[in-house]
Amino acid sequence: MDNDAWAVLVEPEGKVHVVEMQPGVRKVKGLGVFDPIEAIGKAAYGATITVGQKKLTRMPPRLPELSKGMLRRAQTISAKDAGYLIARMGLGSGDRVLEAGLGSAGLSMHIARSLGGSGLHVTVEPRTEHAEVGLKNMIRAKQSWAEFPEHHHVEGAIEEVTDAIQTHAETFDAIILDLPNHTPAVGAVAPLLAVGGRLACYCPVTSQVEAAWFACEEAGLEVEWAGELIERQWGKASKGGMRPVNGPFGHTAFLLIAQRISVDELTQ
Ligand SMILES: C[S@@+](CC[C@H](N)C(=O)[O-])C[C@H]1O[C@@H](n2cnc3c(N)ncnc32)[C@H](O)[C@@H]1O
Repeated sequence: MDNDAWAVLVEPEGKVHVVEMQPGVRKVKGLGVFDPIEAIGKAAYGATITVGQKKLTRMPPRLPELSKGMLRRAQTISAKDAGYLIARMGLGSGDRVLEAGLGSAGLSMHIARSLGGSGLHVTVEPRTEHAEVGLKNMIRAKQSWAEFPEHHHVEGAIEEVTDAIQTHAETFDAIILDLPNHTPAVGAVAPLLAVGGRLACYCPVTSQVEAAWFACEEAGLEVEWAGELIERQWGKASKGGMRPVNGPFGHTAFLLIAQRISVDELTQ
């Protein structure tokens, strides 16, 4: 599935570095100054590479590795919530997905992976400094995987760029919003949701999920599910056996999923 545009190097503790395989000595953040072609070359997956003092294992550029080693700017949606959204919204090949904001593209990489080579993915982001980071992560993924959906990026606030969005598709099978204020966005893009399609809002705080719920109902969508997912990791206990690992039992966000069931609101 993979090609050699990007090399994934993993530290023994699990930290991941994604290195562009272009010739020339240069500084690679977190690893130092070296020529990736000389240091990594055609090393097989699983082989150990030495860069400076570090011993690293080369691994294939799969989604979990590209996510762990991604460039970051805005807060990202991780596998726990991305996986649930993808399953619950039923995303798969051939689907048309609209997503805002792109941010660092944490969620976008998961969506692209689930669409494979026959989907359409439109991302929207008003902040160029966020889009620059997010689009770089998307390029890494596109150049690493055998299949990638048709991807278009639209600059701007989603509620203000619906015309530009609709140059790529009249309607979408799924719309996912990770925004500070969902209400105007839901009102603007709900008419772009195909019958049977689902719209999801990612809401870090309760006031957002409440506002998103009302906005979806106002837009003629039926709220199908709202709630949060709690993840509890287990590990080996020092004196034998297994137990939940120590560490924060954290919150990411509340998710809300609504569906367009009726065409009535679209035809009024
Ligand atoms: C938390 S970040 C998104 C992170 C992204 N889901 C990820 O997993 O990497 C929220 C993004 O929404 C963008 N944003 C804010 N208002 C927006 C709007 N009205 N339309 C589109 N994007 C918006 C912000 O600039 C920011 O980059």
